[in-house]
Amino acid sequence: MAKFNKLAGKHFLVIGGTKGIGRGVVAGAIEAGARVTLSGSSPASVAAALAEVQAEYPSARVSGLACDLSKDTVEQDLDELFAAAAAAQAIDHVVLTAADPLLTMRVDEITIDKVRRVAHMRLAVPALVGKVAARHLRVSCECSLTLSTGGIADHPSPGWSLIAFMCAGLTGLTRNLALDLKPLRVNAVEPGFVDTPLWESTGFTAEQKNAVFDEWSKKLPTGHIGTVEEVAEAYIYLAKDSNATGEIVKTRGGHNLI
Ligand SMILES: NC(=O)c1ccc[n+]([C@@H]2O[C@H](COP(=O)([O-])OP(=O)(O)OC[C@H]3O[C@@H](n4cnc5c(N)ncnc54)[C@H](OP(=O)(O)O)[C@@H]3O)[C@@H](O)[C@H]2O)c1
Repeated sequence: MAKFNKLAGKHFLVIGGTKGIGRGVVAGAIEAGARVTLSGSSPASVAAALAEVQAEYPSARVSGLACDLSKDTVEQDLDELFAAAAAAQAIDHVVLTAADPLLTMRVDEITIDKVRRVAHMRLAVPALVGKVAARHLRVSCECSLTLSTGGIADHPSPGWSLIAFMCAGLTGLTRNLALDLKPLRVNAVEPGFVDTPLWESTGFTAEQKNAVFDEWSKKLPTGHIGTVEEVAEAYIYLAKDSNATGEIVKTRGGHNLI
């Protein structure tokens, strides 16, 4: 009997699965034989992503659910999302990659409103996903929640104080949830630069993004900017390894070495 196809028949809920890294996780989970529910902010974005995934994987068991995480009703909204996903099949693995555009600024531009805006998606949502996951997932180390942080947690950069604060906070949240929710496993992936729509939604034009990526490609030991297919492997690994909890898996092209 095969010992390593641990995801065959399992059910992934990918929150942020319409685009970018989450979309890579959707593809990786499907290729590993899992059923996938992908979620995004609107019915239109979910329908578009679902149509593309179904065209690429015609026999995949994949469905989509919209859930806008930006509202103050987010806990109730998440509860409904998990319940709707679990109605098709019990959820085994949850991946959170949903992210709003990066809000970078000089320190003199920080305001209480900006702190709250940045914290909603990057602190409140992950904490509430942990709370809601505990209500809906089996109490088992066979089940997992994987959050997303970022290389900025370890590698400061001018203008990124608030995002660095949230990303470093996410590593603490991950480790503590791993104890609070045990034996459910809780881990996080820490990507470095990845070529996703996040850059465009943050306000980079294609030319600006290419200029930044060209510059970093020359500096990074791997010689290229990360792809969603590369980074998605970390999420797939964390779902498979029932011995891993409280871990921050880093996939960042050696950015930390330079
Ligand atoms: N890309 C990088 O270089 C990089 C580097 C380090 C860390 N990260 C982290 O990795 C994670 C994934 O980033 P990414 O680059 O894949 O982002 P992305 O390409 O911008 O995708 C963002 C996802 O979040 C969803 N989303 C946005 N607003 C939402 C809302 N209000 N409610 C529900 N879903 C919402 C989007 O869904 P819709 O399309 O349906 O709105 C989309 O599926 C994030 O935590 C990010 O901070 C990324």
